[in-house]
Amino acid sequence: MTVIAFASDHAGWRLKEELVALARERGYETLDLGVNSDDSVDYPDMAEALAKLMAAGRAQIGVLICGTGIGISIAANRHRHIRAALCHDVTTARYARLHNDANVLALGARTTGPEVAKDCLLTFLDTPFEGGRHARRVTKLSGAEGG
Ligand code: RB5
Repeated sequence: MTVIAFASDHAGWRLKEELVALARERGYETLDLGVNSDDSVDYPDMAEALAKLMAAGRAQIGVLICGTGIGISIAANRHRHIRAALCHDVTTARYARLHNDANVLALGARTTGPEVAKDCLLTFLDTPFEGGRHARRVTKLSGAEGG
C-alpha cells in the first residue's frame, strides 16, 4: 500500500491538515510529521525529517508545504533520493509525475489556494511516470550515470 508522508513548517500546517484529510478520504495511509501549530520552525528541518523517512522506505510519496514551497523544496532536493517538485497548478503537478517521476509534491500555502492545492495532490497521486526517454533523464538526476 502506498504511504504518503506529510511535513510542513508553521506557514504550511493548516493546508497540510486539509491535504492529510483528503488523502485519508481517498484511502491512502498517511504519516504526519508535523508541525501542528503556528509556532515558528525552520523548514529545512521538516524537509530533512521527510527525506529520512523516505530513505528508510516508510513512505513512497511525500508532501512538503511551507509559505511559498520554495525553501522546503530546495532543502528536500539536496537529497539524491528525493525529487521534489514545487507545483502551482494541475499542469505542473501532472508533468512532475509524467516527466520527472517526482516523489515529493511541494506546495506554497501562501501562494496556492486550498482548492488548487487539493487538485494538485489528487493529480500528483493519480498520474503515472511516463518512462521511456524520461527514465534516462531521471536516472541522471541522481548522478547514477555521472550526471
Ligand atoms: C516562513 O516565514 C517562510 O519563509 C517559509 O515558510 C517559506 O516560505 C520559505 O521558503
